[in-house]
Amino acid sequence: MPEKKLETLISKEQLQKRIQELGELITQDYRGKDLTLLIILKGGFLFGADLCRAINLPAYIEFLGVSSYEDEEESTGVVQITQDLKYSIEGRDVLIVEDIVDTGRTMAYLLANLKTRKPRSIHACSLLNKESKRCVDGLELAYTGFEIDDHFVIGYGLDDKGLDRNLPYIGYYPS
Ligand code: IMP
Ligand code: MG
Repeated sequence: MPEKKLETLISKEQLQKRIQELGELITQDYRGKDLTLLIILKGGFLFGADLCRAINLPAYIEFLGVSSYEDEEESTGVVQITQDLKYSIEGRDVLIVEDIVDTGRTMAYLLANLKTRKPRSIHACSLLNKESKRCVDGLELAYTGFEIDDHFVIGYGLDDKGLDRNLPYIGYYPS
């Protein structure tokens, strides 16, 4: 069988343009607040690096390492914190920066866990959103880069079994 060809879903240029727009929105919304960008590792590392440079405000940059237990490419909602925060987020305006929200279980867990640490406000920003796959009710994303169809996507931080995070664009293998 011939090898499948990787197709580009979102180009490098489209990513950068949208990230600039998100940065401007966040800059307007968080002016005068105590912004902490909480970048979720590993998948959010490239998005977080570009997004923080598109925000024209003082901001704390923190990282939280998580690993979700998956079952045939779908998360189970059981999330392991592989690298916790070093500093308290109490009283801070926290914006979670994620690569993708799929079933929503990981983000629902993160919001519930982080709310117990008493931030002044907490919202979520995800580069990609697969709304059609949502399994949890009432999950709100304050900022979304792109709505995408139900493809398994790789690149720009997103991996396939640990590889391909370093692709500069978002790609997928058509079925
Ligand atoms: P959720 O808990 O189902 O929303 O899944 C969230 C996590 O699953 C993400 O943070 C990714 O690590 C992983 N994931 C979901 N969809 C994809 C995809 O299309 N490509 C790569 N990873 C994905
Ligand atoms: Mg992730």
